[in-house]
Amino acid sequence: MARLLLSLLVCVLCSCFVATAKLPNIVFVLVDDWGFADVGFRNPAISSPNFDQLAKTGLVLNRHYVFKYCAPSRASLLTGRWPHHVYQWNLATDATAGTNLNMTMFPAKLKAANYSTHMVGKWHQGFFDPRYLPINRGFDTSSGYLCGWVDHFNQKQGCAVDCWKNNAPDPRNGTYDSYYYRDDLTNIVNNHDANNPLFIYLPLHNVHTPLEAPKEWLDIYPANSTCKTRHTLQAMVSVADNVTGHLVELLKKKGMWDNTIMVISADNGGAPCSGSNYPLKGCKSTFFEGGIRSLAFVNGGLLPESRRGQSTDGFIHIADWYTTFCKLAGVDPDDSGTGKFPVDGLDVWPIITGENEKTQHEEIVLAYNFNHSHPEQGALIMGNYKLIVGPQGYGCDSLMWSPLDYPCNDGSKGPDCDPYCLYDIINDPTEKKELSKENPEMLKKLLDRYNSFSKEPRDMQDQGYHSAESLPTDRNACDYMKANGGYWRPWKNL
Ligand SMILES: *[C@@H]1O[C@H](CO)[C@@H](O)[C@H](O)[C@H]1NC(C)=O
Ligand SMILES: *[C@@H]1O[C@H](CO)[C@@H](O)[C@H](O)[C@H]1NC(C)=O
Ligand SMILES: *[C@@H]1O[C@H](CO)[C@@H](O)[C@H](O)[C@H]1NC(C)=O
Ligand SMILES: *[C@@H]1O[C@H](CO)[C@@H](O)[C@H](O)[C@H]1NC(C)=O
Ligand SMILES: *[C@@H]1O[C@H](CO)[C@@H](O)[C@H](O)[C@H]1NC(C)=O
Ligand SMILES: *[C@@H]1O[C@H](CO)[C@@H](O)[C@H](O)[C@H]1NC(C)=O
Repeated sequence: MARLLLSLLVCVLCSCFVATAKLPNIVFVLVDDWGFADVGFRNPAISSPNFDQLAKTGLVLNRHYVFKYCAPSRASLLTGRWPHHVYQWNLATDATAGTNLNMTMFPAKLKAANYSTHMVGKWHQGFFDPRYLPINRGFDTSSGYLCGWVDHFNQKQGCAVDCWKNNAPDPRNGTYDSYYYRDDLTNIVNNHDANNPLFIYLPLHNVHTPLEAPKEWLDIYPANSTCKTRHTLQAMVSVADNVTGHLVELLKKKGMWDNTIMVISADNGGAPCSGSNYPLKGCKSTFFEGGIRSLAFVNGGLLPESRRGQSTDGFIHIADWYTTFCKLAGVDPDDSGTGKFPVDGLDVWPIITGENEKTQHEEIVLAYNFNHSHPEQGALIMGNYKLIVGPQGYGCDSLMWSPLDYPCNDGSKGPDCDPYCLYDIINDPTEKKELSKENPEMLKKLLDRYNSFSKEPRDMQDQGYHSAESLPTDRNACDYMKANGGYWRPWKNL
């Protein structure tokens, strides 16, 4: 912290900080569909020595909130907006849509401070038009895949292969994806000019479906240690652990770790029939805590000594990293302008350093659905309370309260929040007691606030809201891919 304050001071005094003071290296690791208890330090059935060490010597974020599934969590992180202000749906591979181009993603902001910016892993922010590609949204380089999931071993996605590097298909398809991500990280760090600050976004494919892991990682667990899906998931966590640990080793070897801040988080809770969110209720695709209160922790040399081995109860939303990273880089996070909501994220660095853990949102808007006749859902956290509006899907009716090491049989179906659920998530973090009847005043207070979002400009809401049925897709996309080499790529210029 002292170093950082000094950097900022130098910056103010001579406004030549880019050349003189060292801006921090920033790394964000996003683990896909990673359950709250799918890590060794919360669950002895998982082998994750690197994550465990990073958490043990780092700061665990007890109340880190995300969207209930993939793409909106990523859009929220990258643009600093609440999901309903940017993007609230998952894109199909042939979707002709993507995250609002008028919003600046923070890697583009970091470019203003001369950061080298790299992405390795899953994009899922649109690619039908080349303007939506990672390298056109602030990344110097990107590798990985563009849609929501692919086969881990052969990168097949429906009618074509999704394996992409910068501006072109990547012919390395046919290798377990985490292995070539590891190679890319080695090249990025080793080729980096350490005079410049570095940003790496590592949205890993693991532990998202299809549940697939290399034999050498399955073999580190006893045969039949649990059921097959759970065994594969255990191995997939261990692979994610290995890739993350590899990146830490690279940064240490290069002498960059001491000036690095690394955030590790899930994009949403563990999925039904494979992940465990014990002791939280619910799973991915629900607004119960198991779907949206993510496994998350911070490490890196910039974390103050006094915070190591600690945890914080400060409320953080994934959108907050936008503002926090801009501030760390000395860049103005403002991104207001015609036709778009301004940035919602807060600078949560004071929570991380412990300087002021109350620097947090008074409310977190997890999602908002302006179309009340559509069975989508919304949710809002305010103080101790969380309101959930609308029925919650359960996947395979399971994981309402998943066991610590998920034994693969379906759990029982819980309450479905139709029309509402109200919970005191501070005093009842596992959401055992539904309060909407018992506490109508609190219900009204949160509902009034929730309903007030309907007054936000509708044309701006429309950018963030689509029902799955109204998402634009292109039925001819596959013909294009087949006629153009068999790899997914942009196929339209609008
Ligand atoms: C920004 O990075 C470039 C490329 O490494 C370097 O040439 C330039 O000096 C840097 N600018 C500043 C202001 O540090
Ligand atoms: C694991 O389970 C399978 C299927 O039930 C069984 O065929 C196999 O023998 C078991 N292996 C061990 C080592 O127990
Ligand atoms: C990652 O896995 C490889 C292969 O098992 C191993 O050699 C290496 O030490 C592991 N690295 C980390 C950081 O866990
Ligand atoms: C972006 O901004 C321009 C100019 O304000 C506007 O015409 C356009 O509709 C906006 N695009 C989106 C996706 O909001
Ligand atoms: C609202 O949802 C209903 C039911 O899905 C749908 O028929 C209707 O078109 C939607 N209205 C708007 C404005 O999106
Ligand atoms: C990689 O994908 C291309 C395009 O679909 C395909 O032709 C090729 O056979 C794939 N290679 C491997 C090793 O799977």
